Amino acid sequence: MTAHRILVLGGDGVGPEVTAQAVRVAQWLIARCGIPLELVEAPYGMSAWQAHGAILPDPTLAAVRNADAILFGAIGDYPGVPVEIRRAGSVLRLRRELGLFANLRPVRYWSPLSASCPLRAEVAGGTDIAIVRENTGGLYFGTPRGTTTLADGRRESVNTLRYASDEIERVARFAFELARTRGGRLCSVDKSNVLENGVLWRQTVTALHAREYADVALSHMLVDNCAMQLVRDPRQFDVIVTENMFGDILSDGAGAIAGSLGMLPSASLGAVDAAGHRPALYEPVHGSAPDIAGKGLANPIGAILSLALLLRHSAGVPDVAAMLEAAVEGALSGGARTADIAAPGEPVIGTVAMGDAVLAALEAALRARG
Ligand code: IPM
Ligand code: MG
Repeated sequence: MTAHRILVLGGDGVGPEVTAQAVRVAQWLIARCGIPLELVEAPYGMSAWQAHGAILPDPTLAAVRNADAILFGAIGDYPGVPVEIRRAGSVLRLRRELGLFANLRPVRYWSPLSASCPLRAEVAGGTDIAIVRENTGGLYFGTPRGTTTLADGRRESVNTLRYASDEIERVARFAFELARTRGGRLCSVDKSNVLENGVLWRQTVTALHAREYADVALSHMLVDNCAMQLVRDPRQFDVIVTENMFGDILSDGAGAIAGSLGMLPSASLGAVDAAGHRPALYEPVHGSAPDIAGKGLANPIGAILSLALLLRHSAGVPDVAAMLEAAVEGALSGGARTADIAAPGEPVIGTVAMGDAVLAALEAALRARG
């Protein structure tokens, strides 16, 4: 089996710290389980901007195109850096250039975190949702966009929510396929009571359902109602599919179910090409968190669970992914808590110690297997 080439882009803020723990886990899987992964790092982010004059230097972009999968940390805000330079290096450009149209954000309830989860166990216990966020269109990328000065001196900004039906269909198809591998239910989220694009979204998903996915139970929900339902009764959801910015907002909100945004992983996936390869980028949802960067405090679980998604969706070893997810749960059951997931009075550990706890749980799992 040829090795799976993973490009590691730590990026900014807490990105390098949390990614380093995912890399340790990957190295453990290579050494102890013989998983054929090959890890390469490349400069990306503020440090690349300072050293090479670009957030995403050309050699890094070439490596991105050459990799089987990308393990991504975080990208910062860059106050003072011109907007064109920021855009040229942003993760949004990577998502768009690689055609990563489906952003999968699994959200689950973690029983060991019941004391720190803001939602009661009676409400959220057992929740297991896959949010599929459209990732290369909609309000984030639609044109026209920009800011102009009007004749009377007022400034005006425009962004556009635009989707063609084929863009809606391909992400809906991804979500239907995913639903078939899980609970068999898909909730499509839109704003069809106000936006024409929401009407097209709903019509397109409905037509695809009738044509090809009648075995999946499809429902529709307005996005404002969905925001409420996610905290009121999150167990009602299996797979959710929605527009780019709606998915951005709903997935942060859903982070509360997992106890902390620091727990959430994501996978950005493209179409499978003729050679059977699917471009993919894996990143924790939390972002660069500049307030705690460099202090060794950040929760690396979002990054470690992103590696688990890589193992499942790129490396084709779902059993190893499940073992890693179980090890994370084991570490939490054993009391490992970074500050973001600690209940009052619980002892807090740092980023590296959380990595240690997950590795210890993996070792224990391997020994138990014999
Ligand atoms: C996310 C983040 C990004 C987004 C930012 C950092 C551009 O919030 O991945 O959810 O808005 O997509
Ligand atoms: Mg976001």
